[in-house]
Amino acid sequence: SNKTTVLGIETSCDDTGCAVVNSEATILGEFLHSQNEIHVKYGGVNPINAWELHRDNIELAVNTALDDARIGVNDIDAIAVTTKPGLLLSLMIGVKYTNFLAKKYQKPIIPVHHMEAHALVVRIYYNIPFPYLALLISGGHCFLTVVNDVNDFLLIGQTLDNAPGEVMDKAARRMKLKNMHEYSLTSGGKAIELAAKNATNPSLFEFPIPLQRNRDCDFSFSGLKDSLVRKVIKKESEHGLMGDEIIPEVYDLCASFQTSITKHLAHRLERAIKFCEVKNLLNKNAKNIVVSGGVASNDYIFTNLKSVVNHLGYNLYRPPHKVCTDNGIMIAWNGIEKTRKGIKTCQFISQSDVDPT
Ligand code: KG4
Ligand code: ZN
Repeated sequence: SNKTTVLGIETSCDDTGCAVVNSEATILGEFLHSQNEIHVKYGGVNPINAWELHRDNIELAVNTALDDARIGVNDIDAIAVTTKPGLLLSLMIGVKYTNFLAKKYQKPIIPVHHMEAHALVVRIYYNIPFPYLALLISGGHCFLTVVNDVNDFLLIGQTLDNAPGEVMDKAARRMKLKNMHEYSLTSGGKAIELAAKNATNPSLFEFPIPLQRNRDCDFSFSGLKDSLVRKVIKKESEHGLMGDEIIPEVYDLCASFQTSITKHLAHRLERAIKFCEVKNLLNKNAKNIVVSGGVASNDYIFTNLKSVVNHLGYNLYRPPHKVCTDNGIMIAWNGIEKTRKGIKTCQFISQSDVDPT
């Protein structure tokens, strides 16, 4: 048959993700080894630690995904692997293992850009034609991009400082959420989402919304983070807290903080839609917007962005929760999309083709 099957390998940050996807958009098998618990314990992703964990898990991750699909490497048509952006040492584990498999089984390699994979994976689940606007919000990046085609992206906005997931992780750490056992095993972003649900006065704290007069589509999150840190310090001293003690207003603070991040994202997304309309950049027949990346798995953020987008006459789509955060499915799918387009493959990826930025 002319069905194509691709093995995808993702090791750019702290998740070892592998999956097998075919050209009918069927996920045949998958596996994810998350390092999150370990990194939460040590207060952030340590590159050496991440590298060791990828190295120890890559073979198991690939074999488990293949077993899950009930196939072997011989049955696949190509191997897709993340080559950029990410932590160099982490990326190299996926790339080296891909080179090894490609040589041993004589399979072509498809190099994948991690953020492009986040932007396209939604097409496994929904029929969203090009061009569409995508808001990519993760732990390392914040992009507004027009997706014109599989390998044609027009960047129209990005963060001037930190990424939204990064500030949520830092905020969670400063609020010491990991000391509350309900949140001890989750990412900072997820911990804030869960804690915010317990708020009794979600507007107790006020945050200034960044870049409100800024006439482009860029983002800034560092001011919100600094503002949160100042509020925590103030409350800690008011209550005379020390060490690992958590401020009693923590739920309300999480809710106010999450709301301010959401408002900023919504403002910038709204601007981007209007900009695209003026410049005639979007599909006239399919009014679809996509949000993806780890932060897009946040239901509060998604629901609020959706209502803003709907108000402007568009639909908002995202992949399922576990496919918003890093995974092998999006890498395999990118391989499928590139194969369909006839984009050229390679037999070997050299270290100079691996790019952390
Ligand atoms: O896309 P991703 O898995 O990795 C990167 O490419 O960075 O995103 C990870 C980020 C982390 O900062 C994490 O705190 C955030 O996504 N995140 C969330 C949620 N789940 C994960 N942020 C807000 N709400 C969530 N539910
Ligand atoms: Zn990511």
